[in-house]
Amino acid sequence: MKKIKLSLASGDSVVYCGEGVFEEYSRKVADGRQIFIVTDSNVNKLYGNLVSTCFCDAEVKVIPAGERSKNPGKLLEILDRMMKSGMRRDSLLIAFGGGVVGDIAGLAASLYMRGAEIMQIPTTLLAQVDSSVGGKTAVDFKGVKNVIGTFYQPKTVVADPMFFKTLPKKEIRCGLGEVVKYGALDEYIYEKLLKNISRLYSVDFLGEIVYDCIRHKAAVVQSDERDVNGVRKTLNLGHTTGHAFELFYGGASHGDYVLIGMYYELLIAVKRGICGGQYAENLKKLILKVKGKIPVYEDIQKAAELAVYDKKNEKGLISLIVPCAEGKTEEIRLTLGEYIAELEEAVGELR
Ligand code: NAD
Ligand code: GLY
Repeated sequence: MKKIKLSLASGDSVVYCGEGVFEEYSRKVADGRQIFIVTDSNVNKLYGNLVSTCFCDAEVKVIPAGERSKNPGKLLEILDRMMKSGMRRDSLLIAFGGGVVGDIAGLAASLYMRGAEIMQIPTTLLAQVDSSVGGKTAVDFKGVKNVIGTFYQPKTVVADPMFFKTLPKKEIRCGLGEVVKYGALDEYIYEKLLKNISRLYSVDFLGEIVYDCIRHKAAVVQSDERDVNGVRKTLNLGHTTGHAFELFYGGASHGDYVLIGMYYELLIAVKRGICGGQYAENLKKLILKVKGKIPVYEDIQKAAELAVYDKKNEKGLISLIVPCAEGKTEEIRLTLGEYIAELEEAVGELR
């Protein structure tokens, strides 16, 4: 078991990480409290019995699995059930599921009586390495992702790799997209990924790397909890292009698009002389190992135009966070015309 403590202006957050932490810590934190659990339909099917054994008197709200549940209507349903079940400020809300459950339950916790305690029990790889830590909560609204949200830290995160045993391969790949992103941000993770390139999908390896990713994210969040001084936006590496392609082309998972976005932005960084040599080749190798072939897109101009909505953009310039050397990144700012031209060249190179 490993423990990571985040000391933040808004209060401390503790992450327990490793095999067995669910059994050991979740009940301990919950002991004697009134508990309200938010989960989704898939997770409930798999772990409903475990949850009712562990938290026998808890009220459980099950939302349909999938991104479409991350909406204001479902948020109000959760708050309504919390009220009806007599939740108080000193009660405990538990988010038990992937990033969708974590984001909407986190938002509900931040709003209920102006703030109820929340414990995150992330059951996907993506939620363990990214969404459950750092306190970003949200729902989507009018087709815009995460547009209604708050910063609200979970008091406890319990990240147990036992949940990966039931996770479909495509969900592991989705989480690995973010893990490879951490590889581009953190030299230690980069070396570890390269050394273990043949066992990226093994549950044992994932159990180890989750801790490293959370440790990296915890340090970033401690330096820039509210995403204001430029440190936290490094966590968005590959996401500008990934999000634009995800919005325009759809179909694949968020993690796939993070990998695709990273690859295209890496080609841009290499072409501009920001990144290169064996390091750039190794990053490509890692991305390809997880993603397989990188799509060669048509209509790249229309897809690129969607990058103008990226939250990192300033003064009409599109912001890309790109790798430059082991554990180091740089921000590039481009006009839309420059960005389109760069992407067209990248497409040419991929053909
Ligand atoms: P998800 O919550 O939709 O989970 C993916 C699928 O896996 C779902 O079908 C779910 O039912 C299923 N599942 C969950 N745990 C399982 C298990 N142990 N075994 C089998 N199936 C299981 O998606 P996600 O990838 O976990 O999270 C994506 C969401 O996270 C997006 O909404 C994204 O915006 C958000 N996100 C938030 C942050 C943040 O900082 N708050 C960061 C990254 C992503
Ligand atoms: N997932 C990006 C962040 O937490 O800032």
